[in-house]
Amino acid sequence: MCGIVGYIGERDAFPIIMKGLQRLEYRGYDSAGVALYNKGLIELCKTKGKVDDLRVKAESEGVVQGNIGIGHTRWATHGEPNDTNAHPHYSNSGELAIIHNGIIENYATIKEALINRGYTFSSDTDTEVLVNLIEDIKINKQVKLGKAVQMALNEVVGAYAIAVFDRKKPDEIIVAKLGSPLAIGVGEDEFFIASDASPFIEYTNNAIYLEDEQMAIVRKGRDVRVRQIKSDAPVDPYVQELKLNLEQIEKNGYDHFMLKEIYEQPEAIKDTYRGRLRINDGIIKMAGVEDNLEKFLNAKRIIIVACGTSWHAGLVAEYIFEELVRVPVEVEYASEFRYRNPIVGPGDVVIAISQSGETADTLAAIKLSKEKGAFVFGVCNVVGSTISRETHAGAYTHAGPEIGVASTKAFTTQITVLTLIALKLAKSTGKITNSEFHNYLAEMEVIPNKVEETLKSDEHVAAIADIYKDAGNCLYLGRGYNFPVALEGALKLKEISYIHAEGYPAAEMKHGPIALIDEQMPVIVIATKKGHYEKVVSNVQEIKSRKGKIIAVVTKGDKDVSALADHVIEVPETDELLTPLLTTIPLQLLSYHIAVMRGCNVDQPRNLAKSVTVE
Ligand code: F6R
Repeated sequence: MCGIVGYIGERDAFPIIMKGLQRLEYRGYDSAGVALYNKGLIELCKTKGKVDDLRVKAESEGVVQGNIGIGHTRWATHGEPNDTNAHPHYSNSGELAIIHNGIIENYATIKEALINRGYTFSSDTDTEVLVNLIEDIKINKQVKLGKAVQMALNEVVGAYAIAVFDRKKPDEIIVAKLGSPLAIGVGEDEFFIASDASPFIEYTNNAIYLEDEQMAIVRKGRDVRVRQIKSDAPVDPYVQELKLNLEQIEKNGYDHFMLKEIYEQPEAIKDTYRGRLRINDGIIKMAGVEDNLEKFLNAKRIIIVACGTSWHAGLVAEYIFEELVRVPVEVEYASEFRYRNPIVGPGDVVIAISQSGETADTLAAIKLSKEKGAFVFGVCNVVGSTISRETHAGAYTHAGPEIGVASTKAFTTQITVLTLIALKLAKSTGKITNSEFHNYLAEMEVIPNKVEETLKSDEHVAAIADIYKDAGNCLYLGRGYNFPVALEGALKLKEISYIHAEGYPAAEMKHGPIALIDEQMPVIVIATKKGHYEKVVSNVQEIKSRKGKIIAVVTKGDKDVSALADHVIEVPETDELLTPLLTTIPLQLLSYHIAVMRGCNVDQPRNLAKSVTVE
């Protein structure tokens, strides 16, 4: 978490850094700060709050001049969010300034040693320890800043993406990366530094993505010199051409990124299967799967590792893989898997799902699985992300940037990719017939239209949201493929509206949660035709008899559940295993409208960040 931005060139750094920080606010938004080199001094301004608060403060304090600078938007790890703990941090002499995304795990020991050598600290952060360690090495070993950074990083344990500069050498910024992302935008005689490319996309399409354990000296008007931190070996930087465009990272007339991203789903799903779903040829083309087909076909089992919404997509995939491919699937929280000495090894296929491609626990689960000999396949959205590079092979979701902190199009596109993989494997093993395969392909092709149709329920859903916006609790129920959708619906509601919500398999209700049901309790039931429809009808009856308020998501034309429910939201008919792609949509809209009506910050809910790079 945390977003970092830097600029070195001839332009005014302040507006570039401010706009860049705003684009990175999805990574954390509890405090922010900026440091600019101006006439021999590093001027610094920081504040608790958002980037807008920082802008106001910096303008009123006159910290706006300079054409080299760094900025930070924070998601607190060490030390509460306040002005002092906000980044950048000065070294004791005031000559160095640093920004940091990550955690220095052994900071306490280093801090103690530095205190014994006379250093003082004003913040509670691990970052202030790091900048003073760099300063201490620079002074005592009489080395240049780059060398001092390298030596310091060889002493620390943890994760970092950092940018440091020295008031005495204002023609360079030193950056380094381990475990947190860092991109360098390469312009003409100017360079940009950022956690992702969004802060510099209007200035340049060329970027260098540092690998783990690499550092770079970014030299004004000159070049970027990359080295390995451990071995000191020089690295030829690979300058990549970016496909991102400005429109993708702006709201385009929507009130919130979340709403824009909900509405982007028909296109995003199309982008996910574009070039892969080839109905005329009767094939699914996925290079990452084809190149490793034997590994998939010989898999004893598939283990899916992920967190949050991506974990829910994994649960949907479990149902789909077991149904179509008839291979055992286990879905694991990456955070649990990595710490419980899991039984995994050669012959296992591990699928890691991550929108950001940076989630620390998922990354650790991948590394562990690789060490133990499993084949690891990634399903990521962010191109070039750490997870996409750490996995043996993978498939991108191609959903485009997801900026709203609550995941929406990431979920549906992850399910789309995983369904394509399952169909491809099922076809290869003959587990489904050619005609079944063709029918699935044809249905997948029209799913974006059906999502489009489902989105038309928006106003109706908003009216339902108005009735239940003040609820204290909500229950979400679903069965089969739609049980994970119930979990996802509950997660969406709680994370952006702060209403307590729980998702359950509908039949589990009577084993406990039914005790919660009274006339105050809204129960959102996913009750599409097919599957266990009759069983869900019975569950709905049980809720009705206890006077619960029923909001049912049903297949168009439904009669039985609709007769019992207080509110009905219809989705078009589709194959049972594709229903999550439709039933999810009204649940996203319901959460969105409730959160807006409650005055919540939909795109930046409290305490959350988009990219969870700490465990
Ligand atoms: C919820 C949400 C989170 C993420 C989780 C994993 O809306 O966004 O639960 O799904 O933090 O993130 P990724 O997919 O980036 O690994």
